[in-house]
Amino acid sequence: MNIDDDFKLDLSKIPSHVAIIMDGNGRWATEKGLPRHLGHQEGMKRVIDVVEAANDIGITNLTLYAFSTENWKRSKIEIDTLMNLLIIFIRKELRRLMKNNIKIIALGNIEQLPSNALAEVKRAVDKTKDNSGMVLNIALNYGSRTEIIDAIKKLVKDYDDGLININNINEDEFKRYLYTNGQPDPDLIIRTSGEQRLSNFLTFQSAYSELYFTDQYWPDFNKRSFFIAINDFQNRQRRFGGV
Ligand code: IPE
Ligand code: IPE
Ligand code: MG
Repeated sequence: MNIDDDFKLDLSKIPSHVAIIMDGNGRWATEKGLPRHLGHQEGMKRVIDVVEAANDIGITNLTLYAFSTENWKRSKIEIDTLMNLLIIFIRKELRRLMKNNIKIIALGNIEQLPSNALAEVKRAVDKTKDNSGMVLNIALNYGSRTEIIDAIKKLVKDYDDGLININNINEDEFKRYLYTNGQPDPDLIIRTSGEQRLSNFLTFQSAYSELYFTDQYWPDFNKRSFFIAINDFQNRQRRFGGV
């Protein structure tokens, strides 16, 4: 696939699972003298572009970090903006997601979301549950440490109920208790905005992920930026501890 004159994507080496930390909405707006909420609004448009781009090149699992367990520290007005944008996104895009056979999964403790946002998320998950195309994970009230502790609680309960034998607990068995149950680990994790950290995102699953950082703020991250990241990934040599 020719993305531009300067590089090509190798369609035989597309990562299965790409996860994105969509960061920098606030700084994008502030640097333009705009209120932060306009950064989030512009960022939402990039979500649609990137979902489309990922689907077009055959990525099977796309995970978007939309709201962390730590993001509750923000002002009520900013949290309300983010929740409202989530509702708008689903109302506006659900039909197109259905048309593209995309299955939405929410990663995180969604029961703590405001009730109107929760209802939309549940509607989207339910409506797309039988779709067989790309899986779009939306990490919402997601925190990796909480995910791991939740997993341990479920595992201990299954142990108490006599459903598992301690000798059978291994990495693959443990993964079944994570929110990403049944999905491949991310091959590539992208973070925008220049920060180089994972911020409590997919700690267990990212053990062997390739990490890609770009200084671009999320509202500036377009399809071309996404393909550049994929191209960068295609030039990495993954060894998984081998030679
Ligand atoms: C990412 O942008 C959106 C969320 C975390 C929900 P930020 O709002 O974190 O933007 P910066 O990092 O303040 O620029
Ligand atoms: C990570 O971004 C969470 C999301 C993109 C949803 P943050 O902006 O919350 O991360 P920190 O606070 O800079 O680590
Ligand atoms: Mg941020």
